[in-house]
Amino acid sequence: MQIIKRIAVLGAAGALAFALSGCAGNAGNADKSGDDAGASSSTGLDLGISMPQKTSENWVEAEKYFNDLCKSEGLKCSVQFANNGVSEQQNQIDTMLTNGAKALIIGAIDGTSLGNQVQKAADAGVPVIAYDRLLMATENVDYYVAYDNFGVGVKQGEALLKGLEAKKPGGPWTIEVVAGSNDDSNSAKFFDGAMSVLQPEIDAGKVTIGSGQNTQAQAATQGWDPKNAQSRMDAILAQNYPGDKVPDGILSPNDTLARAVLSSCEQAGKTLPVVTGQDSEIESLKWIMQGKQYSTISKPTKPLVESVVALAQKLLKGEKDVKDLNGIAVDDKQYDNTKKVVPAFLLPPVVATKDNAAEVYKDEPTKLEAVNSVK
Ligand code: BGC
Repeated sequence: MQIIKRIAVLGAAGALAFALSGCAGNAGNADKSGDDAGASSSTGLDLGISMPQKTSENWVEAEKYFNDLCKSEGLKCSVQFANNGVSEQQNQIDTMLTNGAKALIIGAIDGTSLGNQVQKAADAGVPVIAYDRLLMATENVDYYVAYDNFGVGVKQGEALLKGLEAKKPGGPWTIEVVAGSNDDSNSAKFFDGAMSVLQPEIDAGKVTIGSGQNTQAQAATQGWDPKNAQSRMDAILAQNYPGDKVPDGILSPNDTLARAVLSSCEQAGKTLPVVTGQDSEIESLKWIMQGKQYSTISKPTKPLVESVVALAQKLLKGEKDVKDLNGIAVDDKQYDNTKKVVPAFLLPPVVATKDNAAEVYKDEPTKLEAVNSVK
């Protein structure tokens, strides 16, 4: 409840900050409300917005921002979360199409599992935009809007090295690595980005992965579930770090998993390693300011939601081959989903640590409040 209240404040504070092009009257929808009621109404849906489980705070924030923006833009939207898994998400998208959705925005639980749904969309001439997570192995995805996921991983790898250097100047350092869920195509980008920075240090003998578990498959966290990351770290510590031995650092792909592995170390009575994260979750911002977690990544949800809705509005107006989205040029090289290279609009992630948090979150009142709450 606390989170939801805080997000409401954030949303209200930022509501004037972004003016979308072609708003009222777009596709003749100026008179429709943006309530999350589309799935139960029978016709006239503008946007079907299908989201995964709420495995991190960014998804909770997205729900609020999508609903607010749909309302202010006069778009009739159905915003659905599939908390019960893949088949629920499939059913929700089917229903959105039955209800006449004119465009789909999809953040997939499993990027490979929605082939039938996006085929139906293509057959009906409904454009599909992948949101935050790419849809894999299908031609029926028109665009991808996300933060630069490989860039997120690079920044995590760099932050880890910086934190290690500050903790134990000159090294060498022993680390462990954690990856996200294998069914989320972002996980490979995060992991590969981070390893592009860490591998040269491993090859040079400066960094060692203590457990030897150095592949994404070994490091994966099914369902992005912190319980899975914590129990894996419990086992790694028990097997590889007897007595007061402890890894110097842990690469974690997001904040929920960062807190899970830190809890694992804490419960094993270890001194805390340098741990990275992502998402700027409120609890992690406090941990960063307390010196428990080292870093996170700022990738604010609001501009991402605004960007994807702006793109959907262009498509609803019949625009084709969009090359620029609010000043972001299309990336038509990086996101090969095995069936096509999906044109992507990528927002820039920013790394945050204790040193720069007040600056990074200066325009996000709720996050700034968390940063300033720790004296
Ligand atoms: C998102 C991350 C998030 C993770 C778990 C990823 O696809 O990009 O921001 O932490 O899912 O929800």
